[in-house]
Parts: sequence; C-alpha cells; structure tokens
Amino acid sequence: MYEPSPYLLWARRYYGTVPYDMAASGMPTASREMLGMPASIENPRAWDELRAAIAAYNDVPLGESIAALGTSHALWLAYAALLSPGDELLLENPFYEPMALKARAQGVNVVHFDRLASDGYALDVARIAKAMTTKTRVVAITNLHNPTGVRASDDSLRELAAMCAKRKATLLVDEVYAPFDGLVDAGGVFRKSARKLAPNIVAVSSLTKCFGLGLERIGWVLGPPSVIERASQAVTLTAGMLPLSHANLAVHAFSRIGTLADRARKVLAGKRELVEAWVASRPDLAWSAPEEGLFALVTTSRRGDITPAIEAGIASHGVLVTAGAFFGVPNGFRISWSLPVEKLEEALTRLDAVLPSTSKGPAPKAKAKVKSATATQKAAKKQSAATPRSKRPQG
Ligand SMILES: Cc1ncc(COP(=O)(O)O)c(C=O)c1O
Repeated sequence: MYEPSPYLLWARRYYGTVPYDMAASGMPTASREMLGMPASIENPRAWDELRAAIAAYNDVPLGESIAALGTSHALWLAYAALLSPGDELLLENPFYEPMALKARAQGVNVVHFDRLASDGYALDVARIAKAMTTKTRVVAITNLHNPTGVRASDDSLRELAAMCAKRKATLLVDEVYAPFDGLVDAGGVFRKSARKLAPNIVAVSSLTKCFGLGLERIGWVLGPPSVIERASQAVTLTAGMLPLSHANLAVHAFSRIGTLADRARKVLAGKRELVEAWVASRPDLAWSAPEEGLFALVTTSRRGDITPAIEAGIASHGVLVTAGAFFGVPNGFRISWSLPVEKLEEALTRLDAVLPSTSKGPAPKAKAKVKSATATQKAAKKQSAATPRSKRPQG
C-alpha cells in the first residue's frame, strides 16, 4: 500500500508560497515562453525520437534507455524492474523519503546505511558492504546527494558497483542533480552518467532540477537492456504507454537544452559562496560544504527537532528552508540558493532572525537518525491532507 509521504505533503504545502524560498531544490520553472512549443503534439514518431534523445543526451546506447514521467516515476519503474516483494533495498541515510516509501509500497524491505558528516557524507563502501544481507538486491543512492549536495566520485561509484556485483546486487543511482554545475557540453550531452561506470549500475534522472522543467515530467531510466525491457513491461501494464503529447514536448525540450543550460549557469553563479560565508558567520552551524549544485545540509547546535521554528519563520518572516527532519536530520535544514542574489541576501538575514545563533559553539557532527515518522512528519501529514494539488514545485 502507498503511504502518504509526509515530506512531499509538507513541500506541497509550503514550497513556492513565501517570498524568500530557500527550500526548492531545482532551477526556477522555465516558462512556456522560454521553452516554446513543438511544431506538433501529435507526431507519432515522437516516442521513438524521445528514446533516441534520452540516449543521446546521456551518451548511452539506445537499448539502455526508457522514458518515464520524471525521476519520481523512473524510480518506481527501476524498483519494479529490479525488486520483488521480500527483497531488501539498502538505502543511504540521510535520504530522500520517497525512495523508501516507493520501495515499501512494492513489498520491499528498506534498510539504511549511514553517510556520516564526519566523513563529509562520502560513500563508505566497507560500511555499505557490512549492511548488506543475502536479501539485498539493490543499493540506492542519490548523486549529488540529497540533502547534502555532496558528489560521489566516479571511483567510489565504481568501487561500490564492484562490491554490489560480487553480491549479485544492482547499484541504483538517482542522478537528477548530477548535471550541476557542468550541465551539458557544447553538443547538449551530459557525459557523466553513472550508467557508464559499470554494467550493474542503473541510473534515473529527469530535466526537472537542472533545467527547470519539473512540470513537464521528462524523466528516464538507464540500465542494461534486460532491466529496460522489464521497465517497459511495467509501463505497458500500468499505463499502456506514455502520452504522445508528452513525448512531443519532451523531444522539443531536448532540442532547447543548450539554452536551458545557459540559464542554469546564470542562476547558479556566485550564490554558493554567499551561503558559505553566511554559514561561516554562525559558530552554531556546520554545513555539508558541497562543491557543486544548488543546495546543502546545515546542522545546528540545537537539540531536538527544529521544524516548528522553521514553520514559525514562514509566517513571521516569509522565509523557508526545508526541515531536516524529513531527511532524518531533525536538528538541521536543507538550504538552497535558486533565488536572485539580492533576495538571497535578504533571505539569509531573515533566516538569522528565525533561527538566531544559540552561541553554544560549533554544531555537533550530526549522525542522521532514521525514523519512520517523526512527530513533525506526522503533523505535516495531518495538516496537508486538506491541501489541494497545485503547480508548486515538490521538493
Ligand atoms: C533525489 C530526488 N529524486 C527525485 C526527485 C523527483 O524528481 P522529478 O521531478 O524528476 O520526479 C527529487 C525531487 O526533489 C529528488 O530530490
């Protein structure tokens, strides 16, 4: 059964509703004016063209790709293709909550391994190996890591994949944030998909986060042809086929990828440094110090869950960051920097007022605790039950 996601309910309730939004983890939505329209939304060749565009963008063979409705759907398809009820999914912690909930809904047991602040949230292959059992079929990570923004090196992904291969497991990489900051080359190609690093790596992604096309749901799964075939069967059984209008729009979006990448580069420029300087000015805070991307995890020296303080700041100061509780880090928050620079500076000043320095010295090195549902998450679920669906970004 599909449990509601407290995180997504909270995100839908608050994201995009405040003037100083440092919660949304992707590029601002690209307008229809910027994207333009395809010549036709009825071209029946668009399904094949989209598959070819996905393969070309990711620099992988055609037979290793399949379209999906965003990374959200791609994750679901990958699970459907790789896991059966009773299998085990070994998922990173801190973690993106829907990755756990989707697996549980498919009857899969979810177990976690820690990415530690003291290691810079790196992937510790020995630690991951220790957490595996004979039932572990998939090890799942995000790269860039959500919520810390930390990138795993190609070498560490190769090493992890090799360890998984020895245990007949697949490494699933959610790389929806991976194109930051390089984005695409002059030919519009993203060269760094994890899919190319080892045969047992399956990668999922979309044009949501790096290109601002979340509303268009342009996602995909990359994997060995046998996995793609099973994912294709899952599409056929659950939806028949993806909408033809979606395929036409998606092909058109890929033709505009260079323009969208230029826009993303402009949006990113100089802002991470601003947030870094702000964190450095606060002795009670520590951050994950990502070198790329649009967000970081900040931990505070406070004890307990700071979500109520964050929610109070929405009403009193119009400023929003994502409560760390949703990732298993109750005394922290994820901060993103997609706002224009002037607004970002004001947003940080307001955040000082919302979460004033406790002057208790440096934040402790956090070890994220996995909780199925904190009190905050339960409250979010209750409050959001009545919130209508909107066009707001999800998370
Ligand atoms: C790690 C991760 N995967 C997937 C998604 C959903 O992406 P999409 O809009 O492509 O479905 C998000 C959104 O926040 C995310 O953080």
